[in-house]
Amino acid sequence: QNQVKVPSAPMGWASWNTFFEKIDHNVIKAQADALVSSGLAATGYRYVNIDSGWWKGTRDASGNITIDESQWPGGMKAIADYIHGKGLKAGIYTDAGKNGCGYYFPTPGPPHAGTGSEGHYDQDMLQFSRWGFDYVKVDWCGADVEKLDAPSTYQALSDAVTKASAATGRELVLSICEWGKNDPWNWAPGMAPLWRTGTDIIFAHETPSIDMVYENFDKNQRPTAQHTGYYNDPDMMMVGMPGLSTAASRVHMSLWAVGGSPMLLGNDLTRMDAGTISVLTNRDVVAVGQDPRGLPAVEVAEDVRDQQVYAKVLSGNGRRAVALLNRTSSAATMTVRLADLGLSGRLAAVRDLWTGAATPITNGSHSVTVPAGDAVMLSVAGVEAEATTYPVENSRVT
Ligand code: GLA
Repeated sequence: QNQVKVPSAPMGWASWNTFFEKIDHNVIKAQADALVSSGLAATGYRYVNIDSGWWKGTRDASGNITIDESQWPGGMKAIADYIHGKGLKAGIYTDAGKNGCGYYFPTPGPPHAGTGSEGHYDQDMLQFSRWGFDYVKVDWCGADVEKLDAPSTYQALSDAVTKASAATGRELVLSICEWGKNDPWNWAPGMAPLWRTGTDIIFAHETPSIDMVYENFDKNQRPTAQHTGYYNDPDMMMVGMPGLSTAASRVHMSLWAVGGSPMLLGNDLTRMDAGTISVLTNRDVVAVGQDPRGLPAVEVAEDVRDQQVYAKVLSGNGRRAVALLNRTSSAATMTVRLADLGLSGRLAAVRDLWTGAATPITNGSHSVTVPAGDAVMLSVAGVEAEATTYPVENSRVT
């Protein structure tokens, strides 16, 4: 194990979902500014991650990745400095293979163009760290084409990241992005604190939908091993993107929170309505996602098809976060039972994290109405049951 764990899943913003490869210093600066002025930074969203589209697609005589100075005046160090100047952390992107995904760069077409880091892992990671970046996402487009071995490839990248961090004295967080193709949850803990568990939540020019949220959340639930300090990554978020209703945004936020997932926003932060801001800045919901125990959600009940109860064990004693998800097209009464949470019937109380309403639990269970296509998020406090077979605790790996 040679890569630092991070104490909770990264939060911030990433350029891909809204801007794809149409990024430059103006776009990134405007988003960094909005992250602060909207109050999101104060809620914990700290990273500003530059995704694909920053490089020129070539290397210079020394093998360094080249950039377009009109896209990034002063180079990549200048944009990292700008982000740091706002009190934020900076992220960058590369590919494990020779090429990138290259959907758009330099112009739309042919896929798998651009510059990947293959053959340059040490050089590129050191460069990113010297520029001042704190986070690097390493994609798999070129690697997939070239059929690299995922575990040894990411181990080499992890080693390069560790060496770069040691050389500059700056922590560099590695984000593994091979889309869950090679079961990274089995080998990535120790190499990196987070890894993607599925393909992209949204592809270029698609309209966001609640089904995309469900699909990536469900894929993220497949891995059975639980790791404190390491995080399944169901991909960047779509909360606040045009096409997603406030209810769908609430579902999205609830599921990423109970999942303890990275919260890397993908919407345009300069155009947020009040509903979006209130969903994203709910501190109780964010605290569930960032809980220091770092455990993901498990499904504890599905009494009726497409109506699931997900629970996450929180730090402290007898504390749980619960998401009641109604995927059906009619409102439903849904129930969470203390026994399913590994809690005894004594002294239990529940608080609705979206409305703030608090009530005691007197009969061992709590029922609420969940509108169609919506989610209710609860925190439950009680007394740990003496003998519990609660699945999260049994499978916990530290
Ligand atoms: C892949 C990744 C995405 C994004 C694009 C950029 O599809 O999974 O998250 O980084 O590449 O091209």
